[in-house]
Amino acid sequence: MEKTFLMVKPDGVQRNLIGEIVSRFEKKGFQLAGAKLMTISRELAENHYGEHKERPFFGELVNFITSGPVFAMVWQGDNVIATARNMMGKTNPSEAAAGTVRGDFAVNVSNNIIHGSDSPESAVREIGLFFKEDELVNYEKAISSWI
Ligand code: TYD
Ligand code: MG
Repeated sequence: MEKTFLMVKPDGVQRNLIGEIVSRFEKKGFQLAGAKLMTISRELAENHYGEHKERPFFGELVNFITSGPVFAMVWQGDNVIATARNMMGKTNPSEAAAGTVRGDFAVNVSNNIIHGSDSPESAVREIGLFFKEDELVNYEKAISSWI
């Protein structure tokens, strides 16, 4: 099943938006395969955002993402990578549609609440950076008829 890496950034955690964001992906029908509250080291931040190393905002981005706890998650389901990107909204919240996470909760590109993998390759890379294999659950092993 397709998996993606999503993360509530430090602004979203500080603004108590973890529940709201998790709820949106649950209600959509995706499955949470792993999650943890953590503080990102500079090394992990620079690796995670390595594609932006030469961009003028890189230093500010690393400072921001390491500035407080984040909520890192792995979600799974059909087309979850592209669908989660749509549910997040455009990178710049001023361009993000109402009804998206960024459109509803953010105003500023540097504090845009949520991260999501942008391709199958980045999903595999980012899940591997943040999670060990045994931190992800396998629902196939769960009892399927509790109710
Ligand atoms: P990017 O990967 O382009 O966006 P997305 O998070 O939608 O995949 O950029 C990574 C983060 O860098 C972005 O979420 C916010 C920050 N950023 C800026 O601060 N200024 C900018 O001009 C851009 C493009 C991104
Ligand atoms: Mg990106």
